[in-house]
Amino acid sequence: MTIVKKCLFPAAGYGTRFLPATKAMPKEMLPIVTKPLIQYGVEEAMDAGITQIGVVTGRGKRAIEDHFDISYELEHQIAGSDKEELLSSTRDIMKRCTFSYTRQVEMKGLGHAILVGETLIGREPFAVVLADDYCVTEGDGVLAQMVKLYEKYQCSIVAVQEVPKDETYLYGVIEGDLEADNIYRVRNMVEKPAPEDAPSNLAIIGRYILSPDIFDVIRSTPPGKNGEIQITDALQLQAQQGRVIGYQFAGRRFDCGSIDGFIDATNYTYKAQTK
Ligand code: G1P
Repeated sequence: MTIVKKCLFPAAGYGTRFLPATKAMPKEMLPIVTKPLIQYGVEEAMDAGITQIGVVTGRGKRAIEDHFDISYELEHQIAGSDKEELLSSTRDIMKRCTFSYTRQVEMKGLGHAILVGETLIGREPFAVVLADDYCVTEGDGVLAQMVKLYEKYQCSIVAVQEVPKDETYLYGVIEGDLEADNIYRVRNMVEKPAPEDAPSNLAIIGRYILSPDIFDVIRSTPPGKNGEIQITDALQLQAQQGRVIGYQFAGRRFDCGSIDGFIDATNYTYKAQTK
């Protein structure tokens, strides 16, 4: 039994880059081929042995709840037909996972969204998935790799990846000491630095394992970049105490928060499925 049992999905954001598609539909429901982005995230959590799913939603996000629920009318319509197979993945998720939801009423940043999720997590280590970072791996999923590391290090872990130096302004960026293969003990982290201020080119990707005290830390974290409460700033406090690991994961990540990344992910997945 793994010690990380819960996964939080901050999913209150507007997804303005995909307007008008996201006017009435949550960006987390945008499909990569036939599955919505958030479903890939939930499947990655399940692959890590996590079955308690918490979602921080907001206005206009009801489609997420409906997706992980039974649609009686649809089930009735397709019962006994070859279409049933197409629902097998969501049926399996619903059999194995529980879903809890809470709303972020005001958009005050990722750190704030995670704090809103405290009511779903309680006091235990937990994973966070940003569904628009879509990750594909050959073996274990990224979260499964990170959960294993948590068992060893027992502190917060952020997934990192090298990015071109001129893109650091899009990410949280870490600075750390290499402690083992692909593992950094983080000393410093900065949210969306300009390239000339970036301490490295190791960018945080939307996968985190957070230790339970993070909620108290966020509560005392003042607004940072863009006047928002940043998870990067909260983690910086833990990092100063040597309690954050940066993990350069095995796998490929698509930034499905951008149109280019979304199209690349779609093409990649379509090719992989029709191979
Ligand atoms: C968020 C985080 C950032 C991280 C990124 C990963 O930014 O604030 O530190 O690097 O996710 O996708 P966002 O992309 O939501 O602006």
